[in-house]
Amino acid sequence: MVGLRHGAVIDLSGVAMALPLPPWRPLIRSAQQREGRSPAARWLQLATVALDGTPRVRTLVFRGWGGPDQLDLLTDSRSAKALELERQPAIEICWLMPKAKQQFRLRGVWQPSGVDAAPERQRHWQQLSPAGRALWAWPAPGRPWQPSDPFVEQLSAEAEIPEHFQLLRLQVERVEQLDLGQHPHLRQSWRRDEQWNALRLRP
Ligand SMILES: Cc1cc2nc3c(=O)[nH]c(=O)nc-3n(C[C@H](O)[C@H](O)[C@H](O)COP(=O)(O)O)c2cc1C
Repeated sequence: MVGLRHGAVIDLSGVAMALPLPPWRPLIRSAQQREGRSPAARWLQLATVALDGTPRVRTLVFRGWGGPDQLDLLTDSRSAKALELERQPAIEICWLMPKAKQQFRLRGVWQPSGVDAAPERQRHWQQLSPAGRALWAWPAPGRPWQPSDPFVEQLSAEAEIPEHFQLLRLQVERVEQLDLGQHPHLRQSWRRDEQWNALRLRP
């Protein structure tokens, strides 16, 4: 097919495939490139619904694409967000790329992973730095601080993967882009259930 972009995709069991990319993926990619080495190329905000129905939002590191329309994050399964996703898997991500003057909002659902996810979890574990891995050896997050708490600084790739090292693979259902670099601003959206056809909106 002329003009159709493909991406290498690794499913949760580690099987590589080539599937077409949705049209918003190259837009995110080029916005990331505009950010260069700035943290904004990888830092995004993840919103969930707390157990009492109120919203929660926090910053996470973008860990790559798990499929053409699946986004990978890493977290601690003992954290509040992990419990919130168990109860209510709907999420929204807000990703601001200031140099590109663009905001992407991605709506989707958390895909609980089964035993098949082990190779992908392993791959992400290997890709972390020793200091990054060490965070998962820290005591359970969000609990009261204890002076005796152990906080290791480094963990090698050979260390056993902690049980609470969690790959969050999010199935993207809707995407909205706002580009302030044009006059008038460009706002457009895509829906997975509409074959990712673009709909231009008033900004
Ligand atoms: C720059 C930055 C990057 C972060 N990256 C992650 C991450 O990749 N995964 C994660 O679980 N928490 C990350 N955090 C911590 C979260 O923002 C949050 O404080 C923590 O996960 C606890 O959130 P919760 O209590 O809502 O579950 C990051 C924080 C900052 C400031």
